[in-house]
Amino acid sequence: MSSVKILKKLIMLLTTFALAIVCFGCGSFENAEEEILTEQGIAYENNITVGFSQLGSESIWREAHSQSIISALSQENGFSLEFNNARQKQENQIKAIRGFISQRVDYIAFSPVTEQGWDTVLAEAREVNIPVIVVDRKIKTKDDTLYTTWVGTDAVEEGKKAGEWLEKYVEEKLSWKKEINIVVLMGTMGSSAQLGRSQGFNEIYSRHKNWKIIDQQSADFTTAKGKEVMSDYINKHDNIDVIISQNDDMTFGVIEALDEAGISYGEGKRIAIVSFDAVNHALKLVQEGKINVDIECNPDQGEYIADIIKKLDNGEAVNKQNTVDEQIFTKENVDEFIDSRAY
Ligand code: AHR
Repeated sequence: MSSVKILKKLIMLLTTFALAIVCFGCGSFENAEEEILTEQGIAYENNITVGFSQLGSESIWREAHSQSIISALSQENGFSLEFNNARQKQENQIKAIRGFISQRVDYIAFSPVTEQGWDTVLAEAREVNIPVIVVDRKIKTKDDTLYTTWVGTDAVEEGKKAGEWLEKYVEEKLSWKKEINIVVLMGTMGSSAQLGRSQGFNEIYSRHKNWKIIDQQSADFTTAKGKEVMSDYINKHDNIDVIISQNDDMTFGVIEALDEAGISYGEGKRIAIVSFDAVNHALKLVQEGKINVDIECNPDQGEYIADIIKKLDNGEAVNKQNTVDEQIFTKENVDEFIDSRAY
């Protein structure tokens, strides 16, 4: 337990004790004590304070991720959460983290917009002994001890799953083709979600001499950009076999662009679509055969984070890397999951 926390607890105990003495004098000690303990403001005073910097609100997935954290780190669960939305800017995240440091929160958590550039601010947090939990995306640091633990999704593995699905698809449906022409819509450049998914997919891609990535650009994980980039691909290429779109929001834009151009896509059609995230609306499109496969990226990380913070607060050891469970969805298995997908 941090010294600031011990101090907070001490102040609360002393306040309770002082009030009790005053009220004892007026003969209603028990009532007064009950009143104090049931006073929610005072009860929450003892909560674990967490400053969380969310990178933005670019996607349906991100909204679900924020919601998962807000519900898990609630006052009723023993937390006082300060939530900050950095609107896709690393400088805003750094500013928010500095704010949490000067408030001396018990824990800092953040979902980093990009992989690099965190060493200085993390060293500042370490200077005052505030443990840092990296959430969702990964970071690269010169010194891994600058953060306590990481909870998130394995983007490299997600990229591999996309490549492995494509291997089977090509074998079953496109084995007659000399070349498989692929276009990629990447997410925010420099984010571990973009880097990892590209790396994992490229690992499988490099095994196949006849697979050709004929174009790849970033569409920032948003629908509007996804549509813009896909329209550009449609104007430039008339030989696309496969679209790899690194999140569902971009895929929705891709689909709008294809529909407007009158190009067929999906199960048994000219172009296959591979998407990531597996949000409810995308799973419906998988069910309808419009998206061939959706690689899950699991935003339900709040409970993991709450659990890790509680363990740390009790002085227990935690794993350095904590990966959430994920799977892939195709027309074959989507029916059983679609109704329970809340986001
Ligand atoms: O970091 C996870 C990625 O970020 C999700 O795939 C995407 O939708 C989000 O914006």
